Amino acid sequence: MTADKKELPIAVFDSGVGGISVLRELVRVMPGEDFYFRGDSVHAPYGTRPAEEILQLTKENIARMAGSGFKGIVIACNTATSAAITPLRQIYTDIPVVGIEPAIKPAVERCPGGKILVMATPMTVGGEKFLRLVHRFEDEGIIIPLACPGLMEFVEAGTLSGPKLEAYLEELLCPYREEGIDAVVLGCTHYPFVRRQVASVMGEGVLIVDGSEGTAREMRRRLLGAGLLRDRAQGGTVRFEDSLPEKETLCRFLLEAQL
Ligand code: DGL
Repeated sequence: MTADKKELPIAVFDSGVGGISVLRELVRVMPGEDFYFRGDSVHAPYGTRPAEEILQLTKENIARMAGSGFKGIVIACNTATSAAITPLRQIYTDIPVVGIEPAIKPAVERCPGGKILVMATPMTVGGEKFLRLVHRFEDEGIIIPLACPGLMEFVEAGTLSGPKLEAYLEELLCPYREEGIDAVVLGCTHYPFVRRQVASVMGEGVLIVDGSEGTAREMRRRLLGAGLLRDRAQGGTVRFEDSLPEKETLCRFLLEAQL
């Protein structure tokens, strides 16, 4: 292992700005690492596109990042993970490639036998990977998938509160609140930025989880195992890039904001 490889950044990719919710966990878990975040807001949302197109777009964006080098890839997008993680692992065989999936496991662990509502994009909840995930945990809780077309667009537009978002969430979630839900899984990386709004519609006592911490810890574990973890305790940097350059300001805001 060359010292140089260890000093390369970790690539973090999402269809848009949602991946920042994963990036902030990565920074928290590995404050000494450098990160290179790229969003593809020109083509977002990915979650309403066919799987083949999502795979192509994800491969193209990662290939673009590869030009400046990285020592690991985080697909900070449930949708792109579902469509592209296996082919990406076949392309980038010598570095860790970590994805994110809806956090059903922590939800059933904390609410055994409970009703778990999984909010995600239409592509994620319709994908085979998701069906396998549900199958794995179907004896441990009642898992209810909920496609949320239109929700990531609020976050992409920087609309993180206000009457339109409240009305959208109220209409979407009201039937489930009435049915009685124990936990909500935020199965799209954009959704943690509207966590408080989801919590306030669902009411007190409903657990809300997402997969960002698990993904960050998994990348740390994989880098450590590969001898690629930097031993600095702080001082890491973050480089932002988006196919829509004006999004970079929103990315910076979301990374700093306590939402
Ligand atoms: N942030 C992405 C995810 O985690 C999806 C947003 C999109 O539809 O592009 O699924």
